Amino acid sequence: MKRELALEFARVTEAAALAAQKWVGRGDKNLADGAAVEAMRNVLNRIKIDGEIVIGEGEIDEAPMLYIGEKVGLKYNPEKIEEFREDELSAVDIAVDPIEGTRMTAQGQPNAIAVLAAAQRGTFLKAPDMYMEKLVVGPEAKGAIDLDKSLEDNIRSVAKALKKDVKDMMIVVLDKPRHKKAMEQIRDLGAKLYALPDGDVAGSILTSIVDSDVDMLYGIGGAPEGVISAAIIKVLGGDMQGRLLLRSDVKGSDDKNDKISADEKRRCDEVGVEVGKKLLLDDLVKTDEIIFSATGITSGDLLEGVKRKGNIARTQTLVVRGSSKTVRYINSVHNLEYKDIYLEKLLKD
Ligand code: FBP
Repeated sequence: MKRELALEFARVTEAAALAAQKWVGRGDKNLADGAAVEAMRNVLNRIKIDGEIVIGEGEIDEAPMLYIGEKVGLKYNPEKIEEFREDELSAVDIAVDPIEGTRMTAQGQPNAIAVLAAAQRGTFLKAPDMYMEKLVVGPEAKGAIDLDKSLEDNIRSVAKALKKDVKDMMIVVLDKPRHKKAMEQIRDLGAKLYALPDGDVAGSILTSIVDSDVDMLYGIGGAPEGVISAAIIKVLGGDMQGRLLLRSDVKGSDDKNDKISADEKRRCDEVGVEVGKKLLLDDLVKTDEIIFSATGITSGDLLEGVKRKGNIARTQTLVVRGSSKTVRYINSVHNLEYKDIYLEKLLKD
């Protein structure tokens, strides 16, 4: 992928974060998400790519924009804003989560980010929107995890790889009722538990960056978020395993959950992936030639959120390019008065 696409994709998550910021603390996660989706799509359609959304806001019938299978990029911009030659366009698959932490955004709480990963065609697992059990560690513990083994065995194995006492390990788990047993186990072993209310993409990244004390992430979260996390973990040299789970196995069986589970199973069959099978990092993402960009919406452990005074706003974005493995933190100051017309209504006070 062309190097300059890194900055283009950074603009995409910046726009989503700026649009979402208007809705921080306003209690409506759908309005926040809608604004971020529209901003992301607007900017994507101005980039010289022939792109396809492979992880997005759901299927076409349930998501009007950035749905799985949607074509994005200059090639598909109906306004024909710029001339281009076919051979100038990079063919890419794109995984997006315009707001990772919609509840946190609506409630004005920390750790919400806008996130995107792009790679060459056919390299991301086309995971349906369902649950995934995840185990993530940083580079020093690569090869020390196995989702077929118990949580305790994994914690001990990772501690050994890190040359740490178990009591010095810091483990992130999403603070959800389904993780009660896992959280108790972690505490019983004497390790430190970081119970994160939402946002396991940020939690996963924390295992693999230098300025964080997090050693491991365990738990059940979204499968789309799992693939996005795998993309960046692969570039950062960490390790991850996942297992797709049906809703009824995570949230209990009833008529509604069983119906959703049957649909999830059908979607897994369509993309040729087995429910319950252990997936390795290479099964989740086949290449490390990716570009990853995440912009903070609300401030958290990974990124600062959007700060805004009138029409001046500041964003912080983490951009990683697989081919160089450079991790960049880009602080941008935006004068929203001068933002292009297509973002105007999303960003105006
Ligand atoms: P969204 O804001 O994108 O919905 O995701 C927030 C999140 O906490 C993810 O980080 C996580 O993977 C997933 O939700 C967990 O799902 P649930 O909210 O059903 O527990």
